Amino acid sequence: MKSIDRLVEIIQEISSGEYSNDIMGLTCADQPEMVQTIAEAMGLMMVKVEAREYRLELMVEKLKALNEKIKRNTIQAVSTMAHALAARDAYTEGHAARVADVACKIARQMGLTEEEIEFVRLGGILHDIGKIGFPDRLFEAHAQKNPSDLVKQITRHPSTGAKILEDLDFLGPALEYVHCHHERPDGKGYPRHLKAEQIPLGARILAVADAFDAMTTDRPYQKGKPPEVALDILKKSAGEKWDDRCVSAFDAVLNGAKSESEADEHQNS
Ligand SMILES: [Fe+2]
Repeated sequence: MKSIDRLVEIIQEISSGEYSNDIMGLTCADQPEMVQTIAEAMGLMMVKVEAREYRLELMVEKLKALNEKIKRNTIQAVSTMAHALAARDAYTEGHAARVADVACKIARQMGLTEEEIEFVRLGGILHDIGKIGFPDRLFEAHAQKNPSDLVKQITRHPSTGAKILEDLDFLGPALEYVHCHHERPDGKGYPRHLKAEQIPLGARILAVADAFDAMTTDRPYQKGKPPEVALDILKKSAGEKWDDRCVSAFDAVLNGAKSESEADEHQNS
């Protein structure tokens, strides 16, 4: 093949993104002067392009790391808000973290992806953030569960929470999970009375985890119920108050955990 034809071929390869050192073979003294000159120029150009690509790759990596850091810091800042809420309301200490933990287990049991589970976790941590706007008397111990004049304020907290968080883009679907965590499959929930599949799956999962934690922890108006009693209550109202698939998944999580610990006990005895 003539040198000039080979040169054209190599230039075409380079232009299609196939970088190789073949061009350097055409810079030797035995090549026609014009071919040598073009090959040297092409070689130099390739070195510069590769150096620029390398710098760009480094820059992309740095940007990714920075983006991750900003996301982590924002989650940290929002979690601090959640802790501030917990400080106002002694009995919900640890509630958000427990709800997030249980909800992730249900989500995993239901086969959600790790990315989807992460959004469920964020929703769990932040689900009650809207309570930060409650007046102090709502956090005081009451003989009854909730005096009726305060019920209206309570039903606003999912919308207030969604409003507080609406500018945090990285929350993705978790924003709607916060907004919908008190909706019910039968449409009798709040704030928008959504029904069944209208409620995002992540929010239906949170509702089960939230109710379970509320039932099993001591509150000013009730003693915490044993887990199996709370699970029975969830099962009885599955399909009405809570999504039946989520309740079944939670049943599997609880009983799976039970059989695992029983197996451990059996092994250790
Ligand atoms: Fe709530």
